[in-house]
Amino acid sequence: MSHTDFAIKIAKQAGELILEECKKGFKVDLKGKNDLVTNVDKAVEEFLVSEINKEYPDHAILAEENDYNDEAELSKAPYIWIIDPIDGTTNFAHGLPQFAISIGLFKRESSKSSQNYDYMTGELVAGVIYAPKMNELYHAEKGKGAFLNNEKIEVSKVDKVENSLLVTGFPTKNRKQNLPYFESLLGNCQAIRRLGSASLDLAYVAAGRFEAFWEFGLSPWDIAAGTLIVAEAGGKITDTNGNLLDLFGKDILASNGPVHQEIVDHFKDL
Ligand code: IPD
Ligand code: CA
Ligand code: CA
Repeated sequence: MSHTDFAIKIAKQAGELILEECKKGFKVDLKGKNDLVTNVDKAVEEFLVSEINKEYPDHAILAEENDYNDEAELSKAPYIWIIDPIDGTTNFAHGLPQFAISIGLFKRESSKSSQNYDYMTGELVAGVIYAPKMNELYHAEKGKGAFLNNEKIEVSKVDKVENSLLVTGFPTKNRKQNLPYFESLLGNCQAIRRLGSASLDLAYVAAGRFEAFWEFGLSPWDIAAGTLIVAEAGGKITDTNGNLLDLFGKDILASNGPVHQEIVDHFKDL
């Protein structure tokens, strides 16, 4: 079974686990101010980690709820699985369907397309985002295109911000950082949405539903799978200054491509 098929398989199983746990009810805790976690986030992460460890004992894992490998191990492993067990926990806790399991696979190697992500040099080779309540599974494998429920998807062709539907997010800490960016685009586009799951925001850019997504204060597990899915759907990904994306860099601008520079220009000097 390929890495991508394996990621799809465990994402679907994790989705079933979430739906079962929902029926039983769940407990919400706070990791920090406005930063929610539930017992389901932890159970799903445990499930994914144990499946990966069984199948690929020499791979490393970078996940949201726990540390499994230290930096030395992460910098040696041939592959790193980057996992968010539930992206959109606040939505999940309030009964909104807008949440997803996000699984990205990073391969260490120095090829032409390699990027330097902090201590990791290599590239994302597989990405899966599964929204179980909406039964939408997005996946991509490097060089093979992006898919929604196995149908090929592509970014939109809109080439002006004034004809665009945009999406953003406000992180748990330092929320006001995004306000000037929000304001700079608000009067110049069709509308801006805030849906509460960065991975799905990216998946929707890939599917042509949004022209662009930007956010600050994100972590690698929020964006790893989504950046590959956007790229494979023909989109463009940088940081909010238009420079090469750093997975650990916390800010991201993902778009269909044609509207990218116009958005970077709006953000200049903010
Ligand atoms: C959050 C979601 C949200 C974004 C936050 C993230 P979580 O992830 O992706 O859309 O605005 O910055 O932390 O905590 O639900 O996994
Ligand atoms: Ca997240
Ligand atoms: Ca999460």
